Order: sequence, then structure tokens, then C-alpha cells
Amino acid sequence: MSSGPVLVTRGLTAGYGGPPIIQDISIEATPGRVTAIVGPNGAGKSTLLRTITGVIRPQQGQVLLDGEDVTGLAPEQLIRKGIAYVPQVQNVFPTLTVHENLEMGGYTRTSGLRERIDQLYATFPDLRAAMKRPARTLSGGQRNMLAMARGLMVDPSVLLLDEPSTGLSPRFIAAVWERIRLVCSTGVAVVVVEQNTRQTLAQAAWAYVMVLGKNRLDGPGPDLLRDEEVVNLYVGRLT
Ligand SMILES: Nc1ncnc2c1ncn2[C@@H]1O[C@H](COP(=O)(O)OP(=O)(O)OP(=O)(O)O)[C@@H](O)[C@H]1O
Ligand SMILES: [Mg+2]
Repeated sequence: MSSGPVLVTRGLTAGYGGPPIIQDISIEATPGRVTAIVGPNGAGKSTLLRTITGVIRPQQGQVLLDGEDVTGLAPEQLIRKGIAYVPQVQNVFPTLTVHENLEMGGYTRTSGLRERIDQLYATFPDLRAAMKRPARTLSGGQRNMLAMARGLMVDPSVLLLDEPSTGLSPRFIAAVWERIRLVCSTGVAVVVVEQNTRQTLAQAAWAYVMVLGKNRLDGPGPDLLRDEEVVNLYVGRLT
């Protein structure tokens, strides 16, 4: 496995037709590592993920995947190239069963659908137990696990997760992070956006702090957690 970044953005500027929401964002994500993007409400974290995944087009800058310029490709083309994206909301089909959700996640696969689902059931045993249940009957934590598993159906090289642990109880947050570490250990580059900054920084090999659409600073997550300014302004004191 190469140790260089698999996903690189260079100077991404993007928005929704008005003034840019994110400006000049350059990040890198490396296989087998958690890369975190943290920052306050409205900082532009989700907008950055939408730009990387082709939901919105950048006004400036590039997205590179394994060195190939994939800027401006449609979401479906990016999925086929190995970029999986789990959005912040509406990330499962509520009326379909767990199993059907996984099948839908694998719709671009040409083979190995059943094998991949079995692999994911081994990683997410709760989902196997709930395979016949409609997704809407799952708990918030189980639903987030399903969304993650559904993203993994395409065997991505990059998995982008928008707030996978928000709104969950501490027990489920710990379970989500356990799965994220497991996914990382298979060589996937995992990019996690979170408001739960302390826990996220502790897990991140590299983290970017976004404020008002700009990259305020970046560094190894645990180092940022020891940075007085970061803690005071963006993390909050331990209670
Ligand atoms: N579809 C949209 N159309 C217009 N403006 C939008 C749209 N989505 C988000 N915005 C604006 O872009 C800015 C950044 O929003 P974004 O959702 O990217 O922030 P965020 O960092 O993900 O916030 P949160 O932590 O609350 O999820 C906000 O001012 C928001 O109002
Ligand atoms: Mg968001």
C-alpha cells in the first residue's frame, strides 16, 4: 500500500450560486488513516464534502484521486472511481430493509454483491441481526452504521462520513469509532466531519479546523487537542 495521499483537494472554492461558502481549501487523505474536518456550525464542512463528491461544482480548485483530476465529475462517476459519501441526513432508504439498503449501495458492482454484503455483516453484526427490518425501525446508532455499511458496498478507496456520531449516546459513539478504525485497518482513507471535536481530534491522524469557510489550521489530531487556542476556541474545556 502506498503511504501517499489517495485524495487531494487543491484550493477548492465553492458555494451555492452566491458568494463562496468555502474558500481555497486544500486537504489530503491517506489510506488507512482517519482524516478529520472539524469546525463550528456553518463553517462549510458539509459543503466541502459535497464539492469533493460532485454534488456541487467548485468555482476554483481541483479534486485529485490517486493523482487523477476528477474535478467536476458527477457523483455517480466518483462512486465508480472509489469515492463513497455518507451524507449528514437522509443517508438510508427508510422504507427498504437493511438488506435491501445494502443491495442498493452495491448497485454499481458488477460482481460479488452477496460476498460483500456477508463481509459487511461480519463487520456490523447488528445489521445482520436486523437484515429484514425496514431501516426506519432502526435506532439512530444502527441507522448510522447502516449508512456507513451502505457506503462501503462499493469497496471504496475513500469513505467520506458527515457527522457519523452526532446525536448518538456515548455507547453508540464508541461503537461507531470502533467500526471506523476497523474500516481504516482495511486500507480505506476515511474522512470524518464532526462537531464532536474532542473525540474526533483524538482519533485523527491529521485534522483540519475549518472556520467561516477557510482552513484555519491543521495538524495531527492529538497535537491540535493540546493546542491552547484550538481548545479554547473550537473544542471547549473538558467538563
Ligand atoms: N443548499 C444550500 N444552499 C444555500 N446555502 C447553503 C446550502 N447548504 C448550506 N448552505 C450555507 O452554507 C454555509 C455552510 O453550511 P454547511 O452545511 O456546509 O456547514 P457545516 O460546517 O456542515 O455546518 P453544520 O456543522 O451545521 O453541519 C451555511 O451558511 C449554510 O447556510
Ligand atoms: Mg454539516
